Amino acid sequence: MKPRLLVLLAAGSLSLTAGITGTKHDLSSAGPGTAKTTNVNQTCVFCHTPHNAATGASQVVPLWNKTTTVTTGFTMYNATNNIGSNLQGVVDATPTGASMACFTCHDGTQAIGNMINLPFGLATVTYASAGTTMDGTGKMLGISMLGKDLSNDHPISITYPSTDPGLVAKATVLALSNSVKLFGSAGSEKVQCASCHDVHNNANAPFLRVSMTNSALCTTCHLK
Ligand code: HEC
Ligand code: HEC
Ligand code: HEC
Ligand code: HEC
Repeated sequence: MKPRLLVLLAAGSLSLTAGITGTKHDLSSAGPGTAKTTNVNQTCVFCHTPHNAATGASQVVPLWNKTTTVTTGFTMYNATNNIGSNLQGVVDATPTGASMACFTCHDGTQAIGNMINLPFGLATVTYASAGTTMDGTGKMLGISMLGKDLSNDHPISITYPSTDPGLVAKATVLALSNSVKLFGSAGSEKVQCASCHDVHNNANAPFLRVSMTNSALCTTCHLK
């Protein structure tokens, strides 16, 4: 009986960390961070809405609830700022897809509560007071606000090349489950922010898809 009880306890504690509630992506008034709202009691709505979601260029993620019009001004990862770089993959001119989604908050230009479809019955969103992680108008500040200069960040919106002998074969990465995730159409799958992060799950903080113990996340893709 005892071992079985231990298994149950372990599963119970795991479910406490999985999911948005109680993580820094819980932007509701009950959220734990200081970058949050004060009059919203939902969690998904900041990113998804069941109806009237984004269309056209803003439709970067299923049922996306934010406008992604600010695509200009980004500096992508490049060889000039990364001497010795030898990329085989192709980097998009601006963040795309599941990376552009992050920048609707993480470039600091748009309030975290800007939504296409506000929570049912709500006319405006109000924010916690200004601090080190958010100004009083809902725009992100601090270390999590990556801004638009991505030249010193791991490449994103880059195709996963088959010609780089230092990488795990793409087919192997694509076949993994509960691990890193590549995005995009077959043949041109890309590494995006959400390849390494799962915004919905903080079991491996900060929202990582694979633990960083022994840099396991990195060696899922890199033969190092
Ligand atoms: C901070 C923004 C954010 C919040 C909050 C959020 N999501 Fe997401 N969601 C994303 C992004 C970005 C993607 C696309 C990247 C990915 O698949 O991880 C996504 C993808 C999804 C997908 C499709 C891919 C999959 O994993 O099945 C579903 C379903 C989903 N979210 C459901 C939810 C639900 C339900 C909630 C609330 C409990 C929620 N999301 C809250 C940003 C968010
Ligand atoms: C709706 C706004 C919003 C979107 C969209 C969003 N985030 Fe966040 N994210 C936040 C806020 C707010 C914080 C908390 C900042 C703080 O407290 O310092 C945060 C924090 C984080 C953190 C740090 C967590 C920690 O424990 O310090 C990571 C990692 C992160 N986000 C990744 C992502 C990624 C990757 C995406 C896109 C796939 C994304 N986020 C999309 C609002 C957002
Ligand atoms: C190659 C994997 C990878 C990719 C791609 C990636 N991240 Fe991260 N990110 C990490 C790791 C690992 C950490 C934790 C760093 C540490 O241990 O200090 C992290 C930390 C963060 C943090 C916390 C603040 C900090 O600087 O430590 C934020 C916010 C964040 N990432 C957002 C993003 C966004 C937005 C993108 C897309 C532009 C992105 N990440 C792409 C691996 C990645
Ligand atoms: C989801 C797969 C994936 C993960 C996880 C990942 N990387 Fe990468 N990384 C790539 C791809 C793809 C490239 C581009 C390789 C190319 O174009 O030849 C790259 C590029 C790089 C580069 C730049 C190489 C150059 O020539 O400019 C470095 C350095 C790097 N990654 C380190 C890391 C570290 C450190 C981690 C863990 C925090 C990590 N990567 C996690 C896929 C990944």
